[in-house]
Amino acid sequence: MRQEDIWDVETAERYDTPGRGVFAAEVVEPAVARLAALAGGGRVLEFAIGTGRVAVPLAARGISVTGIELSRPMLAKLHEKADIPVVVGDMATATAPGRYSLVYLVYNTIGNLLTQDEQVECFRNAARHLDPGGRFVIELGVPELRRLPPGQDAVVFGAESGYLGVDTYDTVRQHLVSHHFRFGDGREARLGRCPQRYIWPAELDLMGRLAGFELESRHADWAGAEFTAKSPSHVSVYRLPGR
Ligand SMILES: C[S@@+](CC[C@H](N)C(=O)[O-])C[C@H]1O[C@@H](n2cnc3c(N)ncnc32)[C@H](O)[C@@H]1O
Repeated sequence: MRQEDIWDVETAERYDTPGRGVFAAEVVEPAVARLAALAGGGRVLEFAIGTGRVAVPLAARGISVTGIELSRPMLAKLHEKADIPVVVGDMATATAPGRYSLVYLVYNTIGNLLTQDEQVECFRNAARHLDPGGRFVIELGVPELRRLPPGQDAVVFGAESGYLGVDTYDTVRQHLVSHHFRFGDGREARLGRCPQRYIWPAELDLMGRLAGFELESRHADWAGAEFTAKSPSHVSVYRLPGR
């Protein structure tokens, strides 16, 4: 399944949930505050900017934000909300004009690149866009392999009225596919699927090193909570040498 087919008009229409889920103020505001602080008044580039969930409120603070994004339908939704310049292309290879003090890639989206090579290229592409001393911030889940009982390759991650979420794992390729089943009272169900390559924090750090970064900090959330063995996700800040 290609990313262009996943992030189509239908997905773009359903993506924004103003005030709820990942669009809730308590989710978005700490991310925007931390990114604004890390930008230090410089220009900012979001890889896989989507409909601008984070970029729109960041730009509303007066910060200069640019994006790279593969999906034109997602971009169309962004441009209904704000006039943010975006280069249409692959975040592993596309070039946005100029240099930036901060590049960021949130909401587990580095996993949408399905090979290790592409993920390393994504780090290298971030480095190419940054000023000396610039930062690359990644928000990513910790792989949940400990939830897989022996002999089982699938885990239910969500079950509520009208919705079932199931992750299936291919531990050899280091892939998982998130399946989202939505249904009503009848026999019909709608299935959305999102394949990802999951990454351990240590592998992510090595990707950073290959691209010339050092890990500057890792926290469990945007507000700076300590990252522990129990943390389900992390916000990791990588920094280039210089300045
Ligand atoms: C989960 S959404 C995240 C959007 C936004 N960053 C947010 O936090 O709401 C993932 C986005 O990544 C985009 N995407 C997936 N693979 C990409 C790639 N290789 N290059 C650029 N964008 C990509 C999709 O089109 C989609 O808009």
